[in-house]
Amino acid sequence: MRVMMNLQELKHTAQRLMANDKGLLAMDESLGTCNKRFKALGIPETEEYRRQYRELIVTTPHLEESISGAILFEETLYQKTETGTPFLEILDHKGIITGIKVDQGAVALPGFPAEQVTEGLDGMQNRLATYYKLGLRFAKFRAVINIGRDTPTNTAIRINAVTLARYAALCQEAGIVPVVEPEVLMDGDHTLHQCAEVTRTVLKEVFNELYEQRVQLEGMILKPNMVLPGLSCQDQSHIEDIAAETISCFLQVVPAAVAGIAFLSGGQSATLASARLNMMHQKFGTVIPWPLTFSFSRAIQQPALEKWSGKAENVAAAQQMLAHRAACNSAARRAEYSP
Ligand code: 13P
Repeated sequence: MRVMMNLQELKHTAQRLMANDKGLLAMDESLGTCNKRFKALGIPETEEYRRQYRELIVTTPHLEESISGAILFEETLYQKTETGTPFLEILDHKGIITGIKVDQGAVALPGFPAEQVTEGLDGMQNRLATYYKLGLRFAKFRAVINIGRDTPTNTAIRINAVTLARYAALCQEAGIVPVVEPEVLMDGDHTLHQCAEVTRTVLKEVFNELYEQRVQLEGMILKPNMVLPGLSCQDQSHIEDIAAETISCFLQVVPAAVAGIAFLSGGQSATLASARLNMMHQKFGTVIPWPLTFSFSRAIQQPALEKWSGKAENVAAAQQMLAHRAACNSAARRAEYSP
C-alpha cells in the first residue's frame, strides 16, 4: 500500500515537471564548476558572488513561464536574497519545483584509465530525508561516460548503471523524483554513429539496472545527452540527422513508461541546443511516447552569465537573456523556435 501511495506522489511531481511545455533549469554547478566559469569571466570566486549570481537567476521575471523546476546546489539551499528572502521561498512562490544535485562528482575508476565513477551514495538516505523536509521534490545524479579508443568499457558502463539505479531507488523511497543522468561526453573525434551506439548501450544497461533495482519508471525522469558527433569530429552532422539518431536511439531503449526525458546541453551552444530540440519535436513530435524537454545549465545560463560578469548594473539585462533562453527552449518543445 505504502509503495502505491508513494508512486502516486512521484508520478504527480514528475508530471508537473514535464507539464505545459516547460523544462528544468540546472543551476546546480558545484563549487569547482561555478568557480571555473566565474574565473573565465574575471568574476571573483567567492561565496558572495555565487550568492549574487543565484539571486539574479531565481529573481528573474517571467522565469516560471518556461521553467517548471530548478536544480540547486547544496550551498544555494540555504542562501537568501540581499533583502533576506530565502531562495527556496522565492522559487516556491513562483510555482517552480525545487530539486537538488545529490551526486558528489566523478572520480577515477581504478584500473580503468580515462574512465570514471560517480560518488555520493554514502549517507544519501539521511540527506534525502532532510531535503524532503525542506520541500525539495526531485534530485539529480550524474554519471559520465567517455568515448575514446578503448572506452567506454563494459565494466565502467555497468558500475555507473548500478550506481545510478541505487540512487534512483533511494530517491523514490524518500518521495523524491530521481533525474537519472548518464552523460556520454561530447569530447573527442567520434562520429554521430559512434555516439548513437555508445548512448544506446549505456541506456540499455541503465534501464536493466533500474528494472533490477525496482525503480518505478513512471516516477523518474531520464536526463540524457543528445546523440551528437564529438566536438573534434570532422563531420559535425546535419541537424536533421542528429534529431533522427537521437530519437531512434531512445525509441529503442527508453521504455514508454518513463515519465519524461529532459536533455542536458553538455557544452552545445545555446542556439544549437534549442534548434536541435526544436527539430526533434518538428520531425517526431507525434511519434514519441514520452514528454521530451530540456534540463540545461550552460545552454540557458551562459549568455546571461557573460552579460552579468559580476556587475550589478548588468543584472536586469542578464535576467532578460536568461528568461529569453528559457522561453526559446519552451518554444522548441512546441516546435516553434526560430533562432
Ligand atoms: P549542461 O546543460 O551545461 O550540460 O548541464 C546540465 C547538467 O546538469 C550537468 O550535470
